[in-house]
Amino acid sequence: MYTQAIDIPQGPKDEVPRRPRSLREDEYEAEFDARVGRGEFVEPKDWMPEAYRRTLVRQISQHAHSEIVGMLPEGNWITRAPTLKRKAILLAKVQDEGGHGMYLYAAAETLGVSRDEMIEALHSGKAKYSSIFNYPTLAWADIGVIGWLVDGAAIMNQIPLCRCSYGPYARAMIRICKEESFHQRQGYDLLLTMMKGTAEQREMVQDAVDRWWWPSLMMFGPHDSDSTHSGDSSRWGIKRISNDELRQKFVDATVPQAKVLGVQLPDPELKWNEARGHWDFGPIDWQEFWNVVGGHGQCNRDRLADRVKAWADGAWVREAALAHADKQRHRDQLAA
Ligand SMILES: [Fe+2]
Ligand SMILES: [Fe+2]
Repeated sequence: MYTQAIDIPQGPKDEVPRRPRSLREDEYEAEFDARVGRGEFVEPKDWMPEAYRRTLVRQISQHAHSEIVGMLPEGNWITRAPTLKRKAILLAKVQDEGGHGMYLYAAAETLGVSRDEMIEALHSGKAKYSSIFNYPTLAWADIGVIGWLVDGAAIMNQIPLCRCSYGPYARAMIRICKEESFHQRQGYDLLLTMMKGTAEQREMVQDAVDRWWWPSLMMFGPHDSDSTHSGDSSRWGIKRISNDELRQKFVDATVPQAKVLGVQLPDPELKWNEARGHWDFGPIDWQEFWNVVGGHGQCNRDRLADRVKAWADGAWVREAALAHADKQRHRDQLAA
């Protein structure tokens, strides 16, 4: 997964307090800007502006949370997968998403934030995660459509991050993007199989496409004109391509795939624009988007409650691992 432009403000406390700066800091910042301008990576021990660090912590942790919460809507179908092959594929995919969350938490930790702080921010509802996971997975076809559209949108969003200015984030994204491309293909393959099946199966696919199309377009975040953090993020080389450009690329890539599949995308205004060389599409319901971001989507409460419960249920594992590490340390000390 997953992102919605990956960087949604988390409230007024999120802003970096303004304070007078020393001449030294001005010099450092000029050097920092020049390095980023030359396309060099910024590494954990390098000096960086506080606002850059905070933006990255917010973005990478939102990204990590999205991977982890993103396991829930699909994990819910593992026991109901129709064949052993599909079960094995889905298990592997959900496990990948868990791994993505772990790399990303580790990348955020290099910026001086602890995993406990990040988890606490998620569980208290302060931290955001991609709103796409607040929609329910009602049928087996949803699993295919999530792979095709949701992982497909995630790839569009995430490929440019492989070149983002922060080294640990960029490097994590290379492996993540490779795995996401497997996720997209398994979804498309699942749908192709269903489309060759019965009329009922084809209807099930169409219904899932109808429900997931618009939320997938929302994954690219608000229009460029309404996107709060985009200016700084592009200047710092975190964001390389704007929300609207990525959304257009996604639509252009997806329309021909829908044709091959034999499904209708639920947008009467979708039409090829010869002059622009792109597909035109209808208006997005931003009220719905902000409603879900604000915690009022169909599954927000369940998703958060499930994460909090999983964390509490896993407490004994964390405690046992710590106790084991302690015992080992004690043994090593005695031996020394
Ligand atoms: Fe994925
Ligand atoms: Fe992922």
